[in-house]
Amino acid sequence: MNASDTNAKTTTVVIFGASGDLTQRKLIPALYNNFKKGRLPEDIRIIGVARRDWSDAFFRDHLRGGAKDHSALSYDDATWSALEGKLHYFRGNLDSADDYRALHTHLNGLEGGPANRLYYLATAPEFYGPACGYLAAAGMNDETQGQRRIIIEKPFGEDLASAQALNGQVHESFREDQVYRIDHYLGKETAQNILFLRFANTLFEPVWNRQYISNIQVTVAESVDVGHRTGYYDKAGVLRDMFQNHLLQLLALVTMEPPASLNADAIRNEKAKLLGAIRPIHLGNTVRAQYEGYRAAEGVAPESATPTYAALKLHIDNWRWKGIPFYLRSGKALAERTSTIIVEFQAPPDIMFKLSENRSSTPNLLSICIQPNEGVQLRFETKVPDTVAESHSVNMNFQYRDAFPGVTLPDAYERLLLDALKGDAALFARSDEIEAAWRLIDPVLSGWTDSPTLSPMQDYPVGSWGPVAADELLAKEGHVWRSGCQSCGEGLCAIP
Ligand code: BG6
Repeated sequence: MNASDTNAKTTTVVIFGASGDLTQRKLIPALYNNFKKGRLPEDIRIIGVARRDWSDAFFRDHLRGGAKDHSALSYDDATWSALEGKLHYFRGNLDSADDYRALHTHLNGLEGGPANRLYYLATAPEFYGPACGYLAAAGMNDETQGQRRIIIEKPFGEDLASAQALNGQVHESFREDQVYRIDHYLGKETAQNILFLRFANTLFEPVWNRQYISNIQVTVAESVDVGHRTGYYDKAGVLRDMFQNHLLQLLALVTMEPPASLNADAIRNEKAKLLGAIRPIHLGNTVRAQYEGYRAAEGVAPESATPTYAALKLHIDNWRWKGIPFYLRSGKALAERTSTIIVEFQAPPDIMFKLSENRSSTPNLLSICIQPNEGVQLRFETKVPDTVAESHSVNMNFQYRDAFPGVTLPDAYERLLLDALKGDAALFARSDEIEAAWRLIDPVLSGWTDSPTLSPMQDYPVGSWGPVAADELLAKEGHVWRSGCQSCGEGLCAIP
């Protein structure tokens, strides 16, 4: 039976792993904000499941801290009081078939009839596959009493084989259209804007190809170090943590062909096609590095070869992009926190002007500023006043905070939770995209182990922009990493 046939009027969100950090820092603030904006279904109930022996009252009190400390909107007691009555706690062990059956009975009792359910696996990754199996064994994937959807957090696998195995386990219990795999970068307002920038304007798309673009750079830099997550991170490293998901997804949005609509499959077909067209990455086009002092951190193996920074050069073998290099870099403990996509256009064929600042070329740069200083900047040349022919670079600058004053950009989880409740999977990764991304990353990971000399481990000082080798990677082709997305106040701003 098709779930929508039940016309279920009520909605249940079940968060597995509800005593953890993600629930506190992301999910509850997102639910609180959506509730405050009047966007949650009126009759929603939210059940947290975890092993600890908590009461409803304790659970609510615990979550109130999350709403207070991490919500983008201001916290107020009236909103919280209205929301907290919808929050319930269920003590259960994620590894116990009996506990899933008991939970099912408990939910049926609370719902008292047909209800749509959204399960959220905010658990340790090793539970993702088994939890799907337990849910199915307890009949909790059955849609006769309403829709059954499931959100699965990152990381989705640790390599291609484990991701395929996990997709296999998930699909034994849920159809693909019931599955929502989180990549929170897709929920960021500015990442969503990439498709608007490209396809709601006529200005950019005609030049969005190898004939006009020289190279594209994706930087996701973090100033924080690994912090308390060494246990996870030392096994994962930057490629699994950031490239397989966030950086490749951003690249796909910037380079994919126009989808026929904003429908989830239309968008995801194009992203999957694009990821499939990326040429296998040559180890010589990779740079890996560790920040100084990483190995001394608690929880890190003293001989750890885990990179906290990587830079890659990629090629996309399709009609639009043939021959154009794409540079991706990400790392921890870097100089600045910035996520930026820079589209560098080709320099004009002939320069008849005198360039200020000893520059030799004048490429236009389009900077898509994901965070912070969310916005878009276009760098172009202009005549220096009161000179005869001197040209200088300036920025045309759109910043959300100026164009939409008073609007707080929603956290990614706000949008993602709402979309999953509505059944819109456009901002979630499909199984084939996940596997295509692993197919690219896996050989680099194994190459770094098997042929370490092709891309020797570098180190970099905390607070720097990474190793010199990353600059050399671009220099080979006459390119440089571009900064962009400066916060330069209103209107036009000069390049610093
Ligand atoms: C997560 C990574 O997926 O993204 C973290 O596991 C990283 O290591 C985080 O810090 C970055 O997300 P954001 O939204 O802070 O840029």
